[in-house]
Amino acid sequence: MQRQAGSGDLTFLDGYLFRVMVQILKSEGVDESGLYNYYRARVEEVGFALSHYDRMLVDYVQAHFDRESRRIVHAGTGLGTLPSALAVTGYTVAALEQDAGRIRAAGQVHAALAEAWPAAAERYQLIGDAFPTALDGTPWLAPATVLIFTNCVTTWPDAQRARIMASLKTCGDVILDTRLFGEMRDTPEERQAFVGQLEAQGFTATPIAESPPDAFYHHLKPAHAVP
Ligand SMILES: C[S@@+](CC[C@H](N)C(=O)[O-])C[C@H]1O[C@@H](n2cnc3c(N)ncnc32)[C@H](O)[C@@H]1O
Repeated sequence: MQRQAGSGDLTFLDGYLFRVMVQILKSEGVDESGLYNYYRARVEEVGFALSHYDRMLVDYVQAHFDRESRRIVHAGTGLGTLPSALAVTGYTVAALEQDAGRIRAAGQVHAALAEAWPAAAERYQLIGDAFPTALDGTPWLAPATVLIFTNCVTTWPDAQRARIMASLKTCGDVILDTRLFGEMRDTPEERQAFVGQLEAQGFTATPIAESPPDAFYHHLKPAHAVP
């Protein structure tokens, strides 16, 4: 049986992935590398590969979901730091990234993971395509899946947004930040209105108390889900 990963494992992974990100940034440049300003800031200003919410979510997933019977989908993964950490802790993960530059960089991170943690890299499938279309008809959109969105502020065309909203009901559990899902919701009123929309669609939405101070993660369950 896989043991619970401790903070020491993630600290080591963090340093390793941070080195990989520095190397990509320095050798290819901010835009050419696909890191863009978002990950440039992670490297130059934050100084860690794993975000606070990546770490919080790894702990939350380990506390709530079984490694053998559940699998994880991370939609809009960016460089794939969260799926890397989840795979190292023993979860089977698919991560999707639709931006061409970002997916190239995420591929480099995945390759680096495979050098140091080959078994973890086997558990982590990186998909360079849009969520959810790329998963249509696959076992990934199913009740066994825990679907996670972290920072996913992107202007989704109406049709894609509708497909994303419909996909939420196909998974047994969904975790998202009500502030950074699709569009930015900086006020409590905007976030509450979004939670109200989700509840009107039959989801229960439970705030995740461990969210970092500037994040508003919720654990959604569709009405049909087994508690
Ligand atoms: C701001 S970045 C953050 C990356 C990561 N979620 C994090 O919090 O560190 C959001 C990423 O989501 C990707 N994205 C947004 N919607 C997507 C979708 N429907 N399918 C695949 N990728 C998506 C964007 O291309 C972008 O790289």
